[in-house]
Amino acid sequence: MNAEPAKKVFIKTYGCQMNVYDSQRMNDVLDTLGYGATQSPQDADLIILNTCHIREKAAEKVYSEIGRLRPLKQARIDAGKQAVIAVAGCVAQAEGKEIIRRAPAVDLVFGPQTYHRLPQLIQSITADGSLKRKKIVETDFPAEDKFEALENDKTGKHLNRGVSAFVTVQEGCDKFCSFCVVPFTRGAEFSRPVAQIRAETQELAAAGVREITLLGQNVNAYSGAGENGENYSLGRLLEDLSDIDGIERLRFTTSHPRDMDDELIAAIASNDKVMPYLHLPVQAGSDSILKSMNRQHTAEHYINLVGKIRSARPDIALSGDFIVGFPGETDADFEDTLALVREVTYAQAYSFKYSVRPGTKAADMATQVPEEVKSERLARLQALLNEQQMQFNQTFLDREFDLLLERPGRQEGQLVGRSPYLQSVHIDGNGHKIGDIVRVCVNSVGPNSLSAHIIEG
Ligand code: 5AD
Ligand code: SF4
Repeated sequence: MNAEPAKKVFIKTYGCQMNVYDSQRMNDVLDTLGYGATQSPQDADLIILNTCHIREKAAEKVYSEIGRLRPLKQARIDAGKQAVIAVAGCVAQAEGKEIIRRAPAVDLVFGPQTYHRLPQLIQSITADGSLKRKKIVETDFPAEDKFEALENDKTGKHLNRGVSAFVTVQEGCDKFCSFCVVPFTRGAEFSRPVAQIRAETQELAAAGVREITLLGQNVNAYSGAGENGENYSLGRLLEDLSDIDGIERLRFTTSHPRDMDDELIAAIASNDKVMPYLHLPVQAGSDSILKSMNRQHTAEHYINLVGKIRSARPDIALSGDFIVGFPGETDADFEDTLALVREVTYAQAYSFKYSVRPGTKAADMATQVPEEVKSERLARLQALLNEQQMQFNQTFLDREFDLLLERPGRQEGQLVGRSPYLQSVHIDGNGHKIGDIVRVCVNSVGPNSLSAHIIEG
């Protein structure tokens, strides 16, 4: 008998790690409905674009992708096959029924808080077999617990997670930075209960996962119901998860400087399973820009916080996010950002030109910065950040650490893993396999990766 699934789904994921996680959960739940995953959209009975709205012309990218998919859809329909196109994620949430109006090839629009309803949505959209008129837009912020509903619907399977997996523990944001769409697309801050996270982590461990990255837009604002009615902080959650057999490494992202409490710093400092890497965005180095961004912290607060974290865990690798060209940013403000970067020193960082997001406070600010100024500032900032990243990597020459082997490399016999500090590291596999943790020593360093050899294990 051929074990091919009855139907196929193709999911294209844009944007952040939480979207990657959401797409995986969609795959898990669709598997229970008989939809196997495929990498080729022309073979797919169901195509889902899991979209991102954080920057730039995200919505435009989605519309042009739909334009490319339209002939595929028509070809399948002509051949008498199913061809449902769905738009999910943050563009779906922000644009809603406008998507169906502008792109009639789309059958289904659902937001980040409604994908647990996929079984019912797919059922009602495919029920009459014709798909001629039926269009559904599902962008509520429902009262029911998405994660609980997903638990009830899936068969306990976690498909294709590999050895390093994501688990969303917190979603949404109440901070309302003036540039950011997240509070609108993902909704209010919400933390999953500890028992639910623990159960998911245990299932992943049983499926061979060795590293978990806890995800949240404001992951360190985590405050989830614990076993005895108390709320757990992120630090306490990490402690709790660190006793799960099979899970050797814990990571978490993204943290906000305002929510870095002592319990979390203590977990980073003293729990061997918590990896020494912290993504702690500051966005800008000028206090007046930080105020106008509604970041609720100053440059000094951030620098002091980094000092405190480094005294607790001296080898911590720091990462950040930066926005250049926020409305009103002067040359002097931008110099403050460079000065902060020089003072803090990053192992790695992401930097972006400010992008107007409709509906956010900053979109209406009068003093927008010209595009060429943004480009020039971004180039200067990135040159500095790249230099720091290279310097950070250079300190690793001849150093030893444990490497979690995650995937095959490009060359025969080569394996690629991550250092505790999240650098990509290439080794000669030497009979070792994906999922092994090996002791290595670094032979050579590059700007984006390291090469090493195994010394024991
Ligand atoms: N323009 C540019 N960058 C942005 N980010 C969020 N909103 C915007 C915007 N409107 C960046 C921030 C955030 C990261 C996820 O994306 O740096 O930390
Ligand atoms: Fe957006 Fe600010 Fe919330 Fe981060 S903290 S998700 S940047 S509003």
